[in-house]
Amino acid sequence: MAIDYTEKIPNNVDLAGNRTLQRALEHWQPEFLNWWADMGPEGTGQADVYLRTAVSVEPKGWAHFDYVNMRDYRWGIFLTPAEAGRQVNFGAHKGEPAWQEVPGEYRSNLRRLIVTQGDTEPASVEQQRHLGLTCPSLYDLRNLFQVNVEEGRHLWAMVYLLHAYFGRDGREEAEALLERRSGDADNPRILGAFNEKTPDWLSFFMFTFFTDRDGKYQLCSLAESGFDPLARTCRFMLTEEAHHMFVGESGIARVVQRSCEAMLQHRTDDPARIRALGVIDLPTVQRYLNFHFSVTMDLFGADVSSNAATFYSTGLKGRYDETKLADDHLLVGATYPVLEVRDGKLASVEAPALNALNEKLRDDYIRDAAAGVERWNKVIDKAGVPFRLKVPHKAFNRKIGPLAAARIDPDGNVVSAAEWAASVDRWLPSAEDRAFVASLMGRVAEPGRFANWIAPPARGINNQPVDFEYVRFN
Ligand SMILES: [Fe+2]
Ligand SMILES: [Fe+2]
Repeated sequence: MAIDYTEKIPNNVDLAGNRTLQRALEHWQPEFLNWWADMGPEGTGQADVYLRTAVSVEPKGWAHFDYVNMRDYRWGIFLTPAEAGRQVNFGAHKGEPAWQEVPGEYRSNLRRLIVTQGDTEPASVEQQRHLGLTCPSLYDLRNLFQVNVEEGRHLWAMVYLLHAYFGRDGREEAEALLERRSGDADNPRILGAFNEKTPDWLSFFMFTFFTDRDGKYQLCSLAESGFDPLARTCRFMLTEEAHHMFVGESGIARVVQRSCEAMLQHRTDDPARIRALGVIDLPTVQRYLNFHFSVTMDLFGADVSSNAATFYSTGLKGRYDETKLADDHLLVGATYPVLEVRDGKLASVEAPALNALNEKLRDDYIRDAAAGVERWNKVIDKAGVPFRLKVPHKAFNRKIGPLAAARIDPDGNVVSAAEWAASVDRWLPSAEDRAFVASLMGRVAEPGRFANWIAPPARGINNQPVDFEYVRFN
């Protein structure tokens, strides 16, 4: 299943065989490139970057590594191969053949799911566009750019579906995806977390660890869709997503490792002294973690949601690992626990499982994210530092759903407005924390050199050495 790179738009969907679609996408392509020039990585026009490009959709050997000027990156449309005889695996249409065309009655819901997913992809590129100016190394700069070009390709993946299956309103939505802007007061991105700033590399690593992982869970659910082109598109996006989470996980592990080294060397756990050494104290890492975790919790949506029930019952969006779950895949009459505040405390109540699907996906996500945080704790343990990072309670600092009305501390206790105000700077990054982290950000762009606040990685990319020239400036 090779990808045709002789085409203007590399693809494995036989674009050449559908002239109308090809023309529509070739019309959108320059608009995308204009958006990339305006809102993509800043100040990098002249750089050649050691990037991977998808050249096949085979699980082994799908990627090719070489120097690319990012303007010339080959964004394309790649779907995993169709699975013969695939069926709708859940909801009212369970057992019917998977849809190759959009079912008319579900058209607007399906479009909404695709647009919501599609909107996150350019949003994160916009959020990260200034980070190249303060890269801690060429290795990290290359990883940032890799994430950026692949988020650009994920936008292509969703735009392909809009153009190929949704006619005129699909084309309009594809244009709107290039018009919204992260953080813009008048025309913001659709979801809250994608309008936050990613001002420094600690935020970037937290974002790729926590928020790209939300992407994984959303894509996994959409990869179960009864609408086969969506399922196949998302499957291939997931292969790329794994690297984004690796960037976040290894990035924070290296920050933590460097902090522990400095603490041991100078025999101190005093945050002020640690900061004076030019590294990030672990309580600050914890506060950034709390922030990014809680913002990501909201991305899963309201705890009880009739939309979630509809998307599932109509076969549009499944659960994580749907086909591996041993139940009837209909969920009629089943229940699932959700949280509410009762008598000044969080209490678990049973909700209809169909309506609680956001909560179920959130819980699946939390298990995965918490396991990653434990891997960071191994780095701290190994250094012999008595400190543990942990994910806050899922009800902490929520802005969406019924829990948004309450103030809940990282341990899950309901607190008063006064207690919240008195403690919030211990729980979430303060302006001072952010200013300190910002003060560490300076550009390091010599092969093999790393900023003082982060340890070098254990190994390089694609078997290249750590001191490889991952980015060449012309
Ligand atoms: Fe993505
Ligand atoms: Fe991603």
